[in-house]
Amino acid sequence: MKNLHMIDLSTTFAGLQMKSPVIVSSSGLSTSLDRIKKMAAAGAGAVVMKSLFEEQILHEATHLSAESDYPEAGDYIRTYARENSLDNYLDMISSAKEAVDIPVMASINCVSGEEWIDFAGRIEAAGADALELNIYFLPINKEKDPREYEKAYLELVSRVIKQSSLPIIVKLGNGFSNITWMVDQLYKRGVAAAVLFNRFYTPDINTNDMTFGSSEVLSSPAELRNSLRWIGIVSSQVGQLDLAASTGVHSGMAVIKQILAGATAVQVCSVLYRNGVEYIKEMITEMKKWMEKMQFESAADFRGRMNYSSLKDPSVYERAQFMKYFSSMH
Ligand SMILES: Cc1cc2nc3c(=O)[nH]c(=O)nc-3n(C[C@H](O)[C@H](O)[C@H](O)COP(=O)(O)O)c2cc1C
Repeated sequence: MKNLHMIDLSTTFAGLQMKSPVIVSSSGLSTSLDRIKKMAAAGAGAVVMKSLFEEQILHEATHLSAESDYPEAGDYIRTYARENSLDNYLDMISSAKEAVDIPVMASINCVSGEEWIDFAGRIEAAGADALELNIYFLPINKEKDPREYEKAYLELVSRVIKQSSLPIIVKLGNGFSNITWMVDQLYKRGVAAAVLFNRFYTPDINTNDMTFGSSEVLSSPAELRNSLRWIGIVSSQVGQLDLAASTGVHSGMAVIKQILAGATAVQVCSVLYRNGVEYIKEMITEMKKWMEKMQFESAADFRGRMNYSSLKDPSVYERAQFMKYFSSMH
C-alpha cells in the first residue's frame, strides 16, 4: 500500500523541473513578492508573472508625452516610460527568483508583435525560466479571412522563438476553428508548451441604466469542462507537447481530471483569489489522497489514461449535441 509520503507529484513542464503540476497562472496574484513566497511554500510548481501589456506600455508613454511642456522631450519620455515600466517588471522577476526555488515565468500580452520582442532578451537576463505569450486577436473584421488571424499567431510565435532562447509557452483562448491544428502548428514551430485556455474579460450590459459593466471576473468550477474536452483531444494528437489546462481548475480533483485527460500541468487563478494562495496545499493533499487510494506513485502513472486515443469508446469526447442523449429532459 502506498502512503502519502511515497507519492511524488514532481513533473517536467516546458523543460522545467517542477515539484507539483499546480502552476499559479498570470494575474495580480503574482504582483506581490510575499504572496509568491506563500505560493511556493504551499507547493506551487511554478508561478507566472502578471502579463506585461504591450498596450499598457504604449499607453503610459503616450499619456506622459501629452503632459509634457516640451514636445521635443516626447521621445525621451516615451522611452523612459517604456523602460521604467519594464524595469519594474524585470526587478520583480529577479526578486522572485531570489526569493523562491520554483520556476518563475514571465508573461507578455501580445497584440502587435512588434514593440516588445527585443525585451525578450532582458526578461531572460532578469532570470525568468520561461516566457508565456498571452496572445489574443479579437476577430472583429468581417473582411479578414480567419486564416490571416491564425497566420498572425504563428508568425508572432516564430519571431519570438527566433529571438529568445527561453522556453516559449503559448496561452490561447478557445476561439479557433480547429484548436488541434493550431496547437500542432505551434509545436512544429518549437513552442515548449501550450496553455488551454485563457479566460478573457467579457462585457455585460446593465439593463437598469443601460451601461456596460464586467461579467464575473472569476471563473466557476463548472467551467472546467471545456478545457477538459480539449486537453483530452489535443493531448492524444499532439502528444509530444506539454499542455497545461487553465480555466475552472478549483480543486485537487479537477487537477486529477485534467491529468487523466492528458495535461502535464494545470494553471490556477480564480480559486486562489477566492480562498488565498495557501489553498494550493489543500489541492495537493486532495490529489495525493486520491493517488494513494488508486495506488499511483506519480502523475506519470495515470497521465493521459483517459485521453481521446486511450479510450475504447472515444466518442465521449465527440458528443457535442444534447439532443440525442438528453431527449428525455423537459
Ligand atoms: C484578476 C485577473 C487578472 C488576470 N490577469 C491576467 C494576465 O495578466 N495575463 C493572463 O494571461 N491571464 C490573466 N488572467 C487570466 C488567468 O490567468 C486565467 O487564465 C483565467 O482566470 C482562467 O483561470 P481560472 O479559472 O483558474 O481563473 C487574469 C485573471 C484574473 C481573474
